[in-house]
Amino acid sequence: MTGVPVALGVDLGTSGVKAVALTAQGEVLADTTRPYPLLTPQPGWTEQRPADWLGATQAALRELSSLLRGHGAVPAALGLSGQMHGLVPLDAQGEVLRPALLWNDQRTGAQVAHMEARVPRAELVARTGNRAVTGFQLPKLLWLRDEEPGVYARLRHALLPKDYLGYALTGEMTAEPSDGSGVGALNLARGTWDADLLGALNLSAALFPPLRRSTDVTGRLSAAWAAATGLPAGLPVVAGGGDNAAAGIALGLTAARPDVGSLSLGTSGVIFAPLAHPTPDPDGRVHLFAHADGSYHLLGVTLSAAGSLDWLHRQLAPDVPLTTLINEAAAVEPGAGGVTFLPYLSGERSPLMNPQARAAFTGLSLAHGRGHLTRAVLEGSVAALADAYAVMQPLAPLRTLISTGGGARSDLWLGLASGALHLPVQPTASQPGAAHGAAILAMPAAGLHPDLNAAVNATRPQTLPAAPPADMTAALSAYARTRQALYP
Ligand code: XUL
Repeated sequence: MTGVPVALGVDLGTSGVKAVALTAQGEVLADTTRPYPLLTPQPGWTEQRPADWLGATQAALRELSSLLRGHGAVPAALGLSGQMHGLVPLDAQGEVLRPALLWNDQRTGAQVAHMEARVPRAELVARTGNRAVTGFQLPKLLWLRDEEPGVYARLRHALLPKDYLGYALTGEMTAEPSDGSGVGALNLARGTWDADLLGALNLSAALFPPLRRSTDVTGRLSAAWAAATGLPAGLPVVAGGGDNAAAGIALGLTAARPDVGSLSLGTSGVIFAPLAHPTPDPDGRVHLFAHADGSYHLLGVTLSAAGSLDWLHRQLAPDVPLTTLINEAAAVEPGAGGVTFLPYLSGERSPLMNPQARAAFTGLSLAHGRGHLTRAVLEGSVAALADAYAVMQPLAPLRTLISTGGGARSDLWLGLASGALHLPVQPTASQPGAAHGAAILAMPAAGLHPDLNAAVNATRPQTLPAAPPADMTAALSAYARTRQALYP
């Protein structure tokens, strides 16, 4: 083989697909993204057409492979990552039966209630690390059985989004634990699909594909995909990880350094904490998932972080740059003059776990303006994350957080997060994401490193100085008072 060998990573996100090519040292040689539509056929429903994922991925890989030829680089393996929890329903021939139901779809309230009636919450948490959650794949299967029995009768395989992509690329159906634990049916201690739990819900474990490790080669790129993309036929395709696990790998977060976690201020807000043993919160108020390195991680997820800020921007001042709004917020005193924002615009996960929760602005007077509203949104979004971290901390105490996501570009927001969580929050210069993690997971198979540890150590990004913490005292106590008074 001549030329620089590279590992490819593909992240099948909610708004689009991202593909990257990394050298053994984690340097990005080429990257590209392609968008696809999000379907919302009814309020609270979110779907995507798997064919759109494939079309966009093919275009992205075609561009990536031509960029790599220009660099004289040689693709040596391809790893996968993607949005977690979705259901891609397939028939006996492996054909897609209907559009995929996504992680942020909220239609499964009745099915979650059914699960809670059949399996005590404590038992579900002890087995799977999580309580029944509307967004997870398992209640989606029950919804399909209840609401689309004709489709359900033909269902033979339930795949997660990135595993469907892997099937399309190679013809092999597999899953791996980091994304598989987001189905809601993986027994974490045993590392297998939980046949007892599935039996209690009258579901067959045969719906789910065999589990492989995140670094395993699960198949080879088909001749058809090679012809369509210009990548080599037979390229090893590696199982990879769910997007949060893959992003954790990209940031160098593993159970070997349990006190370093991450904070992502994207549409949702996510705190990631590595964990050596699968110890859940007994109430399931935060998620416990398998990590892609064979260990585990806790995940506190709030559903509207940058999502709240985008909403405010669109409703209040679509013609003004977002940076203007943030500068106005920076000029307002800590506590936003008594204005409080509860950020439950899409319901809430951690710690409330309630899709019916709704957002609120309180404490408004004639003296308040746009800057107060924006500051209240920034403060409320990190106060909500502090609520989630309060549940995580006894199980996985962190010493520092590395920041990712769009919010990592705002020093004010990172400072507020630092003040709310009482932890240093450090951005990185390179801002690697889930696609980078997918490529790193493929590095052992690509022959770039002997094992995942070596790949993670060689690619761990440089952190920048922590953002100066901002005073959140007034905001946190006003938030706690408002939540206690209004949320019930
Ligand atoms: C995690 C979750 C989201 C999706 C987004 O539980 O639902 O972070 O993985 O892609």
